[in-house]
Amino acid sequence: MMVAACAVLSSGCDESEAPSAALAELADADLTDEEFAIAEAIAQEMVYDEDLGDFVAISDYDKGILSDYLQGRDLFMEETFDGNGRTCVTCHSRTTGKITPSEIETLWGEDPSAPIFRSIDSDDGVGSSYERLREHGTVRVGITLPDNVSLVDDPAQQSIVVLRGIPTTLDTPALDPVLMYDGRQPDLESQANGAIHDHAQPNQEPTSEELGLIASFQRTFSFFSSWRTFIYAKGGPAPKLPKGKSEAEKRGRKWFVPSPEGLCSHCHGGPMLNETNEFFLGPVPQGSRFLSVAVSEFNRLDNPVYSFAFDNPEDPENPIIVDSPDPGRALITGDIADLNAFKIPSLWGLNERGGPFFHDHSAKTLEEVTDHYADYFALPPANLVLSEQDKEDITAYMKLL
Ligand code: HEC
Ligand code: HEC
Repeated sequence: MMVAACAVLSSGCDESEAPSAALAELADADLTDEEFAIAEAIAQEMVYDEDLGDFVAISDYDKGILSDYLQGRDLFMEETFDGNGRTCVTCHSRTTGKITPSEIETLWGEDPSAPIFRSIDSDDGVGSSYERLREHGTVRVGITLPDNVSLVDDPAQQSIVVLRGIPTTLDTPALDPVLMYDGRQPDLESQANGAIHDHAQPNQEPTSEELGLIASFQRTFSFFSSWRTFIYAKGGPAPKLPKGKSEAEKRGRKWFVPSPEGLCSHCHGGPMLNETNEFFLGPVPQGSRFLSVAVSEFNRLDNPVYSFAFDNPEDPENPIIVDSPDPGRALITGDIADLNAFKIPSLWGLNERGGPFFHDHSAKTLEEVTDHYADYFALPPANLVLSEQDKEDITAYMKLL
């Protein structure tokens, strides 16, 4: 049932009926008058639908969006494709877009036969022990090796298994043209098809219509981390860095403001804080999305390490040998320059979605993310030492995003 639209600005509006939360957010978003007017118009278009339990644009009712919305929701939350019982929501919750190790541990206590516990994601991929999944929330992802890459110890092997965290489905479906930690999926439809086959062991093929409905559902309101990112996706102003209230937050902000000193902004630039900006001095064009910040190199979780042989066009007799638990983008492009490079993720909504962070879930909290960067920046060529105060400031500011 569509609840009568009530003027968003009128203070009498109940939060479930109209996006007063939108206005609270926008008031704090440092927008120009013109930007605010555009954002407000987009927010005012939204009404809360009790049946859907979500906000929907009024104009979408005319386009018959409701039946698509409901079908998409059922496919995301309930459809198993006659497989192992898993659905998208098994791993991507409706609140944070992911599932944390503590949620997994609670499930384990309640019901060890819950769909997340399937032997394809057990410790060895065929058993019934789930220590890794319960402690780190990582799943087993199979990657086909490119033609110019082989395993040193097993040259006939054509694919490997890497242990990857579960990224959030907030903001990404509508706002990120690059999908997966290594960018291997070109669009949401093929991503959904891949997810069904990789995780759900289906006995029934999804139709292209079903894949389209799953894709559209992931662009609806509840798949955004905030009004800010939703309004941006609808053509409104880009989200802006919050000013910060405490002294730590204000100092922390400097790391994110685009400038030579704003080191985090060098890679977390642009509207979604997920692309390199003009101050980044690395060997990639501005706007690049794949880089290494030494997560695979440090391999803090001690994941199994593979030895890879990359063909060497300059010296075919001597392939280039590299060791890594997960070479990331390099296994998609076959280019050794992409070794251990992963997608730069958006930083909006970090605190709400919660950890673990990084492609291997090696940082459980934002404090651990900052500790990781302290170790990373200490490496040459940066050779930068972060003080305890720097670390507190950076963490405090990340919690605001
Ligand atoms: C067993 C857990 C699991 C299930 C079930 C699952 N996913 Fe995922 N999802 C993952 C993991 C792990 C990744 C990242 C894998 C990678 O990058 O190699 C991911 C990545 C994604 C991404 C890309 C996010 C980004 O930042 O690029 C989207 C979108 C997504 N999943 C949607 C879905 C949909 C839709 C379904 C249901 C059809 C689904 N997932 C089912 C674990 C799961
Ligand atoms: C050289 C580019 C670069 C710089 C500089 C950089 N990052 Fe990152 N950031 C990345 C990449 C690439 C990833 C993904 C790494 C992975 O998973 O292996 C990432 C991941 C993250 C994540 C994890 C998010 C998630 O959802 O898992 C956070 C948080 C983060 N960065 C914060 C920061 C902060 C804070 C700074 C400054 C102290 C910073 N980054 C500097 C490139 C960079």
